[in-house]
Amino acid sequence: MKFFIDTADINEIRKAKEYGILDGVTTNPSLVAKVKRPYTEVLSEIVKEVPGPVSAEVISVECDGMLKEARELAKMGSNVVIKIPLIKEGLKAVKILASEHIKTNVTLCFNALQALMAAKAGATYISPFVGRLDDITSEGMDVIEDIITIYDNYGFDTEVIVASIRNPLHIKYAALMGAHIATIPFSVFESIVKHPLTDVGVARFLEDYQKIPK
Ligand code: E4P
Repeated sequence: MKFFIDTADINEIRKAKEYGILDGVTTNPSLVAKVKRPYTEVLSEIVKEVPGPVSAEVISVECDGMLKEARELAKMGSNVVIKIPLIKEGLKAVKILASEHIKTNVTLCFNALQALMAAKAGATYISPFVGRLDDITSEGMDVIEDIITIYDNYGFDTEVIVASIRNPLHIKYAALMGAHIATIPFSVFESIVKHPLTDVGVARFLEDYQKIPK
């Protein structure tokens, strides 16, 4: 299972990298807006910082505009993945970009049939948003299970990125279901390594070590 970090904050990315288990980054316009710097400047910095896939989202909602943006963003580095919204124009763009060997991450997916269409269009990644579904009392993780079953049924190569993660349990269930990737907010990323009994255990071992005759 791959771990991506869901942020456009270069400091968070650098701190997450220190764990040695970071595989990639996802961004979106809302995350970049928080950084308060120009869009392409922020993305270009992240692309250079992380060797793994970095998802950069297009702003256009029409196929031609998406293609123009995608081809420009793709020039930033071989690790750039173009994030495209799951709308009709987006699917058209994904199909064309796949024929040009430009990788795509189809975003704003909220059900398994949308995910099936994205895979048929040739998406490299699909991003179902589990947290936003949970927010409206819909079971986000059920959608992940359905997508994995459908992709397995037909042998699609599209990798499932569990997105809109809100807590560690989303990651645990994603792993149990065999999702390829979890894209994790920095605060959740930091929280999953921690357990109070681990801290108590480390303190006790250090204390007992002091009792060993030197
Ligand atoms: C990732 O690709 C998404 O942009 C992100 O996970 C959305 O998360 P949110 O629902 O917390 O905004």
